[in-house]
Amino acid sequence: MNAPLVATSAGIRPEIAVDAIPDDERVWVPQARDVWFRPLLLNTVNGGWCNLLRVRKSGVLNRHRHPMVVVGYVLKGRWKYLEHDWVAEEGSFVYEPPGEIHTLVVPDDCPEMITFFNISGAMIYLDEEGRQTGYEDVWTKIEMCRRHYVDVGLGVHYVDQFVR
Ligand SMILES: [Fe+2]
Repeated sequence: MNAPLVATSAGIRPEIAVDAIPDDERVWVPQARDVWFRPLLLNTVNGGWCNLLRVRKSGVLNRHRHPMVVVGYVLKGRWKYLEHDWVAEEGSFVYEPPGEIHTLVVPDDCPEMITFFNISGAMIYLDEEGRQTGYEDVWTKIEMCRRHYVDVGLGVHYVDQFVR
């Protein structure tokens, strides 16, 4: 008996396969002092993004809340959240539940960390009292990338390769 044929889909969006950490420093988009991200997938269908986050000594990713799930894998260095005791080391997997609020810092004795994060939804930035000070979602990320890549000469369309 022959198994039924599986249909191929017309119009499917192209896959992405890129060197995640190329030599070209320009792929890193400045986020804050000593904090950069390198986009890998900017998902406008589900609303979310995959990126590498790079933080160098004394860099801080400001306090924020995740309304949806985040997972990450530490490629280099280590970091911690001011709100938790554990330290994410090179090779660590991290799960952040919806509702999680935290502030990411790199210890003084670590010159650089790089972590892959898959972020669903958005990041809502908060002050110490819990007031919203800003937000990021896939659309603000695309805009940040577009502006940076124009500034560094990669062009207005460079970010498009990561958008789905
Ligand atoms: Fe976070």
